[in-house]
Amino acid sequence: LAHRKVVPALFHLWVGNLLPERFALVCFGRRPFSDQEIRTALRASLDKHARITPVDEERWATFAARITYHQGGFDEPAAYTSLSTKLAAIDTESGTDGNRLYYLATPASSFPEIVRSLGAAGLDHETADGGWRRIVIEKPFGRDLDTAVKLNREVGKVFRESQVYRIDHYLGKETVRNILIFRFGNLIFEPIWHRRYIDHIQITVAETIGVEGRGAFYEETGALRDILQNHLLQLLTLVAMEPPATLDAEALRDEKVKVLRAVRLLSTDTVDEHVVRGQYSAGNVQGQAVNGYNQETGVNPNSSTETFVALRTEIANWRWAGVPFYIRTGKRLASREGYIEINFHPTPHAIFQAPAGGVNKLVIHLQPKDGLELHLFAEGQHKRIKTGNQTSTNLSSVHLDLDFDKRFGSERVGAYERLLLDVLDGRLNLFVRSDEQEEAWRWVEPILQHWATDTQGPRHYAAGTWGPSASSAMIARDGFCWSEEN
Ligand code: BG6
Repeated sequence: LAHRKVVPALFHLWVGNLLPERFALVCFGRRPFSDQEIRTALRASLDKHARITPVDEERWATFAARITYHQGGFDEPAAYTSLSTKLAAIDTESGTDGNRLYYLATPASSFPEIVRSLGAAGLDHETADGGWRRIVIEKPFGRDLDTAVKLNREVGKVFRESQVYRIDHYLGKETVRNILIFRFGNLIFEPIWHRRYIDHIQITVAETIGVEGRGAFYEETGALRDILQNHLLQLLTLVAMEPPATLDAEALRDEKVKVLRAVRLLSTDTVDEHVVRGQYSAGNVQGQAVNGYNQETGVNPNSSTETFVALRTEIANWRWAGVPFYIRTGKRLASREGYIEINFHPTPHAIFQAPAGGVNKLVIHLQPKDGLELHLFAEGQHKRIKTGNQTSTNLSSVHLDLDFDKRFGSERVGAYERLLLDVLDGRLNLFVRSDEQEEAWRWVEPILQHWATDTQGPRHYAAGTWGPSASSAMIARDGFCWSEEN
């Protein structure tokens, strides 16, 4: 994570002059590295993972000069005492003002001991002259409700909630941040953002990649914990929340928690009706033959871990009563796509002939392209068809297209960069509060429980398809189809 995401993001911020001139990066780890060795290793990672290449060598030299390495075990008190001394020395020598951001880019199993050790060494203490201490915690944040509650309790013993930044990188994606702006910074959508106009909503995060050598990790995780519990439920809350009174982090997160509490909770005996779990078998993804999940390194050949989940839910409140939400994610699917599709009702009285199956929809694309598409009907082709002895207008589906890359191009910054800037600026809005995290776990808990005892296991789908046919059947029961089947 440090090599792929965090350090490249910091470097881009540095290149864009968005980091303070006086900053230092201290890498903490178990392995013995000299300062020079860690710089060389991080430089090599930039070649692979930097968003902007080639790497600007001049800027790298100034950035690298600020990187040092501190060796120590995560549970080794002496390592934290010496870290404290080192940080104090850096403050004095480099004039770094005493603000500290601790980023836990570590295995989740180490989070509690790191937090405890930071506390024991007094590294959580903010200073009287305003030096802040903030901690960024990555996912997985627990593996079920019980472990998430325990972890929150451990973190809470050392850090105040306002110092804790639980990061979900989906909240840093440009179009995801913009959901709030589209909805609450413009007048036109909000009056129709309602069950009276909206028919159903689809949220999809489809990946073509498999488990990328992380078989052992994925065996313990699965798609529900890896993506649905966090990224997808976060997208759902942003789409469904009520307008907050202010942009204040608490006001915003209060509204998100209310949505999570209103998402209809499944019981263990209704899971099979509303949730489809799948696992990819060997197939062909975009022209390349790939192995099945249970042939991946580190995976049990009889594994029942899901690599795909699709589910139907509703939100039990006035705004959304009766509007189905269909959510899905999967690995080794036909194409990489992330989108939220808001489907509107058909017109109440049709005087034009709309294309079969056509409705107005707003599509928020998260990736690979990001932007906004508003699908409307228009008569552009001047084509008329005969109906009996009359002619009638034949409509075409067209869309208004806001492409973020074309519109904002080089001004844009990546998701991790945005979120790191938020941490540095002390903006908690788009970080997950402890109760929000727990509500999301509470919601997935019956599914986890049901699957833990269910002997049926996941349904298999060939890599390179859109998942098990049961996923299409689930949405078809309500008379709809997934976007790509349209
Ligand atoms: C991570 C998951 O949180 O998100 C990965 O652990 C997944 O399994 C990744 O591949 C997807 O992120 P993105 O930004 O590429 O959609």
